[in-house]
Amino acid sequence: MPDRIAIDGPAASGKSTVARMVAARLGGFFVSTGDLYRAVSRAVLDRGVDPRREAERVADLLPDIDLGYRRGSGSVLDLFLDGRPVSSEALRGPEVSEVVSFVAAIPAVREWLRDRQRACCRFGTIVMEGRDIGTVILPDATHKFYLTASPEERARRRLAQGGETAPGTSLAEVAARIAERDRIDSSRAVAPLRPAPDAVIIDTDGVPAPEVAERIVRRVQEGQGAA
Ligand code: DC
Repeated sequence: MPDRIAIDGPAASGKSTVARMVAARLGGFFVSTGDLYRAVSRAVLDRGVDPRREAERVADLLPDIDLGYRRGSGSVLDLFLDGRPVSSEALRGPEVSEVVSFVAAIPAVREWLRDRQRACCRFGTIVMEGRDIGTVILPDATHKFYLTASPEERARRRLAQGGETAPGTSLAEVAARIAERDRIDSSRAVAPLRPAPDAVIIDTDGVPAPEVAERIVRRVQEGQGAA
């Protein structure tokens, strides 16, 4: 049975960068589940619905949305939305970023995405990052990790990444937005952000991503961090 590695943590804790590195090292597939919530947000906005005001209409739109991964070249999984490939970068603009927390708090959306996330395991070794992978999506993951970092460090990383923040945004504004996103993600009724009881917690403050990835790879190879 191939490894199923869950990497959870709050916004800008470095999960994506680290998970991508771990997948490359282990020859597995990398899945950023935030992309799925972002793709649903994109699809909903494209259909003229604002999820902040019309959450109940979002559930009605789901049957009309065509979303899923297909195997690309080599070890890449390509996300397709409504018949077209959609890149992670295209989903990280401010328009989607502003509504995605609201979309992710809708129980019907989480349920709709649950099987789409689990289905990724059919491709082979999976390194899946998100908020509830170790707790809800893959409770039987072979390894579970939870990355943390202080709000200031995360705001710095987010600014350095660009994309999601409008030009000229200050560090304090980014930190405030991250804190608000954390609040929504950890206080929602369904699948709130929290470490699985059996997750290995890694504080990444001041630790470069390659080193965090290395620690995870070492634990996987040594059979530690196992559920
Ligand atoms: O990781 P990200 O910033 O792309 O996540 C976007 C949003 O989706 C964020 O508000 C949290 C939510 N999310 C979630 O609720 N569960 C996941 N497994 C992944 C993301």
